[in-house]
Amino acid sequence: MESRILTPSIFSPASVPAEIIVEYTTLVLAICAVIFVVVSSLIVYCVARFRERADDNGREPPQIYGGGRIELAWTVAPVLIVAVLFVVTARTILTLQKDEPPPGSLQITATGHQWWWEFDYADLGFVTANELHLPLMDDTSAGPAFLNLESQDVIHSFWVPQLSGKMDLIPNRTNHLWIAPTESGVYVGQCAEYCGTQHANMLLRVVVEPRADFERWVREQQRPATNDSAVSVAVGRAVFEETACVSCHSVRGTPANGTFGPDLTHLMSRTTLGAGVATNDRAHLIEWITSPDHLKPGARMPAMQLEPAQILAVVDYLESLQ
Ligand code: CUA
Repeated sequence: MESRILTPSIFSPASVPAEIIVEYTTLVLAICAVIFVVVSSLIVYCVARFRERADDNGREPPQIYGGGRIELAWTVAPVLIVAVLFVVTARTILTLQKDEPPPGSLQITATGHQWWWEFDYADLGFVTANELHLPLMDDTSAGPAFLNLESQDVIHSFWVPQLSGKMDLIPNRTNHLWIAPTESGVYVGQCAEYCGTQHANMLLRVVVEPRADFERWVREQQRPATNDSAVSVAVGRAVFEETACVSCHSVRGTPANGTFGPDLTHLMSRTTLGAGVATNDRAHLIEWITSPDHLKPGARMPAMQLEPAQILAVVDYLESLQ
């Protein structure tokens, strides 16, 4: 499933809206480049051709006032260029901007938090964080992914350059974005609106996979948390459920139902911790619980002040959440 991670560039689009954006960008850049070349060549030509010469004897050349044809040309040409840019821009915006989900689309609510992403697949019955999974659009009868973008606190912005344009997540408002991925891969994205201390570490990943793999992932996410009966796991679960962990985190199928922090039901199905600041492994889990500030200064998760043995037990429990 986890294939190579692609460098984020708008010039290598892997989704329909991103392709539309790069086509539009290329056209506008090309028009501007032609204007730049024509204007700068004319300037260079005039500077050279009409420069002061030794035999001018200090006299000014004859001054010409007005010129109907040339004035018409330099008015009409820019008007036409602006009209073309206007029509192309309007058409692009109308294509990209959808306020209603297209038929057959997969609806996901993405909520921005300081400083992580919540992805609620409400129609499929589960919630996850920081790593969005989308099916490849190989079946044209299926609709695209349609994201409802919301915020729990301040303004954030969802941006995965290869998949779509930027769209802000604004408190008390729902914005929309659609993605129709055309190539499998893991795409990296980033919050694109300054939202506080850890804005730069509000990273996200989008895993685009063939529909069968996506459906397998969905079935695994839909399961309630695995109930591992190993002693260390049971001890860790007891610590987790008796301390403040549960006031912020949910583990579906257990009494933990906090909503302030990421859902941990299938924590180990994610590859990173803290919205992409560290790989999700035992060492980082221990570090994260002992001192979240160490990995992500300013993180909303408090240091849990647990005994070392309790931390190890909690990590055993977290590692059982496959
Ligand atoms: Cu969220 Cu910047």
